[in-house]
Amino acid sequence: MKKILVATEKPFAAVAVEGIRREIEGAGYELALLEKYGSRAELLAAVADAEGLIVRSDIIDREVIDAARELKIIVRAGAGYDNIDLEAARERGIVVENTPGQNSNAVAELAFGMLVMAVRNMYNGTSGSELKGKRLGIQAFGQVGRNIARIAKGFGMEVSAVDPYCPATVMEEAGVKPCGSVAELYRDNNVVSINIPATPETVKSIGYDLLTSMPRNGVVVNTARKEVIDEEGLARALADRSDLKYVADVKPGNADELVERFGDRVFFTPKKMGAQTAEANINAGIAAARQTVAYLRDGVDRFRVN
Ligand code: 3PG
Repeated sequence: MKKILVATEKPFAAVAVEGIRREIEGAGYELALLEKYGSRAELLAAVADAEGLIVRSDIIDREVIDAARELKIIVRAGAGYDNIDLEAARERGIVVENTPGQNSNAVAELAFGMLVMAVRNMYNGTSGSELKGKRLGIQAFGQVGRNIARIAKGFGMEVSAVDPYCPATVMEEAGVKPCGSVAELYRDNNVVSINIPATPETVKSIGYDLLTSMPRNGVVVNTARKEVIDEEGLARALADRSDLKYVADVKPGNADELVERFGDRVFFTPKKMGAQTAEANINAGIAAARQTVAYLRDGVDRFRVN
C-alpha cells in the first residue's frame, strides 16, 4: 500500500491526528506517523518509502529529500515553508504545498494574548495601559495579518497595514488604512505586529532604526519568524529606549541575554506555539491530508509553492 508519512517533531493534537488518519486511510493509503522524533536518522529512515510527506516546521532539506526516493509531494501543514528546500524538491520533480489560512486565527489570537500581557507589564501588578484607542500597524496583510486586524477592531484599535503584495483596496475593504512604507508603519504606530515570511528580502530587515523610530511606549509583537529580526539591533534598541517592549512567539538567538538585561520588557514563549491549538491542528492537518491525497490520486496541485 502506498504510504503517506506525517512527520511532526511538534505533534498535532490527538483529535487532529484522528482526522488525518480518516482522510488518508479512507482514500486507501497507509498512514505512517512519526511524532517527536529524537533524531534525524529516524526521519531519514521513515521517509525512505513514503510517496507523500506532511510536516510542520520540520526541516526538510536536501538530505531528507535525497533519502525519500519514492516521494512525490510534501505538504507543509501551515503557512511558512522556509523549512523546506524548494529547489532540491523541484530538481526531483517533487511538489511542495502549504495550507494557507488554516492556522492563522490561532496565531492571531496568541499575538493578542502576548500584547495584553505586554501592556499590562507581564502581569506584574504595576499599572499598565490599554490597547483601546492605540494605533496598530500590521506588517504584511496576509491571512494572519487579516485576523489580527479583525481582532484589533474588537479592542477598539486604529488599524493600518503595509504589504507590497496586497492591493490597498483589500485593506480598505477590511477597514484597515494602507500605510505607505515599513518606515512609516513603525514611526506612526504604538503597536506593530510582525507577520512577514522569512525570505532573502526580509531576513534581518527589522532592526535598530525601525524599532527606535516608534512612538514612546512602543510594543512590537512577532509571531512570524525570528530570522526577520536583526537581533543585535533589537538589543541595542531595547538598551537605548527603556520604554520599548518586544514580545515574540519566535525566540531570538539572544533571548536569554535579552531577558536578563531587559526583564519584563521582553517575553518569549518557550517553544513556538502560535498554531498549537486543536482547531488549527485539525484545520491545517486535515487540509494537508486532503491536499496530499488530491495530488497523489488526481494530480491536483492547487496550493503548489515550488
Ligand atoms: C506557520 O508557518 O504555519 C506557523 O509558523 C506555524 O508553525 P508550526 O506548524 O510549526 O506551529
